[in-house]
Amino acid sequence: MTQVRVLVTGAGGFIGHHLTSYLVERGYWVRGVDLKQPEYAATNAHEFLQLDLRRWENTLRATEGIDEVYNLAANMGGIGFIESHKAEIMHDSALINLHMLEAARANGAARFLFSSSACVYPGYLQDSPDVTPLKEEDAYPADAEDGYGWEKLFMERQCRHYREDYGLQTRIVRFHNVYGELGTYDGGREKSPAAICRKVALAEPGGTIEIWGDGQQTRSYCYIADCVEGIHRLMRSDYVDPLNLGTDRLVTINELVDIVAKIAGKQLHRTHDLSKPQGVRGRNSDNTRLREVLKWEPATSLEKGLSRTYRWIEGELQKAGRLPQLVTAGRA
Ligand SMILES: NC(=O)c1ccc[n+]([C@@H]2O[C@H](COP(=O)([O-])OP(=O)(O)OC[C@H]3O[C@@H](n4cnc5c(N)ncnc54)[C@H](O)[C@@H]3O)[C@@H](O)[C@H]2O)c1
Repeated sequence: MTQVRVLVTGAGGFIGHHLTSYLVERGYWVRGVDLKQPEYAATNAHEFLQLDLRRWENTLRATEGIDEVYNLAANMGGIGFIESHKAEIMHDSALINLHMLEAARANGAARFLFSSSACVYPGYLQDSPDVTPLKEEDAYPADAEDGYGWEKLFMERQCRHYREDYGLQTRIVRFHNVYGELGTYDGGREKSPAAICRKVALAEPGGTIEIWGDGQQTRSYCYIADCVEGIHRLMRSDYVDPLNLGTDRLVTINELVDIVAKIAGKQLHRTHDLSKPQGVRGRNSDNTRLREVLKWEPATSLEKGLSRTYRWIEGELQKAGRLPQLVTAGRA
């Protein structure tokens, strides 16, 4: 049997890096493309190209000889970043995605997976912490997250048009807060689980950490190993409409902090900065369709996933000489 040749864009980023390893292990030939090399571990892609995918000629080069495209490249970050860079996000990600779809079609790729987001769901359904889990059809009537969410919703639509008009087999996954090792944990683009792990690791036992908002806002979180398995299952399925990929265990940010503090073995106090961006008040994934379509759903518990993530972030901070003397000495 000839080896399937896949392209992973965003392969220098968090999900793309893990997905590359997952696909290589399963026998695919993988080309990774990104603006940058992966930050924390070397790629094991068969070929890795550093290309700016906002540029049309680069998307043609990236998709040359490729059977299946996993399109994960995006200009994105946590809530602080996406609320303050709307024009840049829409500009960059729309260019990447419009060009990537057209280049995949022009080069004869058979399948194209687009990484969408729970940020497509309307604000008016997410104004309470005990939010009703979001079903795929709830995305309309639309009132997506400004900037980032609208670009995702627009591209979901364009994927459908490419499938209907040109026969390109598109798959659309809506991620809900993916976390895990090798994800950005500092610098302004990190998401809440990584930011909390970093703050807890840096805090002295008995110390205080700052939380954005009152901490009563709720989310559900999906561990990276489950995320890449779900992506692959969706690509292999014949399901063409958008599909949630997340867990449906709703926790408050305060509960998330408590879980991480327990993992770290630290008693900590919290202060709440109400001036910081918090995003929607509550968001959860309805996994009914995920279970029906993939006969599967994410299974890693938050405690297990966060424990692995925390240990990795703690290790990175230790390598960088950023942990308080007390903790470093205690572990030596
Ligand atoms: N992580 C999550 O919780 C989450 C949630 C919802 C949706 N998503 C989506 O999943 C995908 C992957 O997210 P991630 O968490 O791995 O993010 P990430 O930021 O770690 O990875 C995205 C990668 O895209 C690359 N990129 C940006 N602009 C580029 C360009 N012009 N050309 C080439 N590469 C470029 C970045 O360098 C980065 O490595 C994105 O589309 C994101 O919107 C992620």
